[in-house]
Amino acid sequence: MPGPKSNKRTDFSFSGLDEDLLDLSEVMIEQAVGYVGVPLGLAGPFLIDGRKIRIPLATEESSVVAAASFAGRLLSKHGGISTQSTEPVMVAQVFLEGNLDFSSARKILDSRDDIEEHLQKTLESMESRGGGWRDIDARWIAPSRALAVNIQIDVRDSMGANFLNSVAEKVGPLLEKITGGRVLMAILSNRSWHRIASAHLSIPAYELKTMGFDGRETARRIVHAAQIAREDFDRAITHNKGIMNGISALALATGNDTRAIEAAAHAYAARYGPYHSLSQYWIEKDTLHGSLEVPLPFAVIGGAVGFHPTSRWCLEQLGSPDGPGLSRIAAALGLAQNLAALRALVCEGIQKGHMNFHARRLAYSAGARDKQIPAFAALIFSENIRRRDVAIRRFAKWIKEINAK
Ligand code: MEV
Repeated sequence: MPGPKSNKRTDFSFSGLDEDLLDLSEVMIEQAVGYVGVPLGLAGPFLIDGRKIRIPLATEESSVVAAASFAGRLLSKHGGISTQSTEPVMVAQVFLEGNLDFSSARKILDSRDDIEEHLQKTLESMESRGGGWRDIDARWIAPSRALAVNIQIDVRDSMGANFLNSVAEKVGPLLEKITGGRVLMAILSNRSWHRIASAHLSIPAYELKTMGFDGRETARRIVHAAQIAREDFDRAITHNKGIMNGISALALATGNDTRAIEAAAHAYAARYGPYHSLSQYWIEKDTLHGSLEVPLPFAVIGGAVGFHPTSRWCLEQLGSPDGPGLSRIAAALGLAQNLAALRALVCEGIQKGHMNFHARRLAYSAGARDKQIPAFAALIFSENIRRRDVAIRRFAKWIKEINAK
């Protein structure tokens, strides 16, 4: 029965979606007019900390699932990837202005216990889950004559944004009383540098043998490429983009905040000043080692996470990890993705792997469907067809030839 809500949905028809998805759009954002479908793949298998898993990735980029799966399978033969993570501590920030100076920071630190007590009620639910208050610091920002108060909270399985914003807003009036200043703004920091996940891989060099290079030479080239990414700003950005290809796709699949995760990772890459790569590689006794360390504020509850049906399904595929567990999976994935990209780059080049997908897309846009897609893509590939209009004409001819048989 169309109710008053469905009357304003006349322009939803283009999306061909059922009412359920449209309802879902409307409870997630305002002024919803549709729903964007992004392919969801299950990459792997991976062996992460001794556990075999497949990782759901939502991405429009054709090579991401294939590359991650390639590295996942290769590494699984040799013990897989091991990971670690810190506690999921995030920062709520309050900025005060007014009649303040650097000594105001000291007043905040001296009132630490009162501030913690003031937040007791707000933090109760987080504390019952093992999280809650961790620390406080304050910093005088001389050029802008503002006091920054940073409160560290362990947010456990949530991303923490709403919770941290509530904490920051709740504590504001007390900070005003302590310092005599006025709150300018209160918000979480997406820096997330207390919430780090790391991953480590090792693989015998002989496994990296390719058509053109023996394994040792491939390993050496990977190490050299990674070193360049630590030293060349332009290359570092692309290198890290490749790491984030998988991590962002996992974030999207699980309903996590892709922008918060990207922002934290890229800021971390510039933590010593110059921006550099997030991963490192080295060779020891004919074994290639790689490691990645990155802030990963992944959640398994809150917001769209665990609420959106796709997010729920994806978390189940991963064995329902907790927040830090999901961050560790993401770190392992990022490192595997990076290894696959570097290996391809320093050996056969990146375009070779992309051509197959390009041909499939061209086949689809020429009209091929279902089993016709791989068959016509192979023909496109062998005849080196690149243009859509040529592909469309060739498809029509191909179908005629098939029907005539
Ligand atoms: C493409 O999306 C990602 C790569 O450019 C990453 C890299 O260059 O390391 C292949």
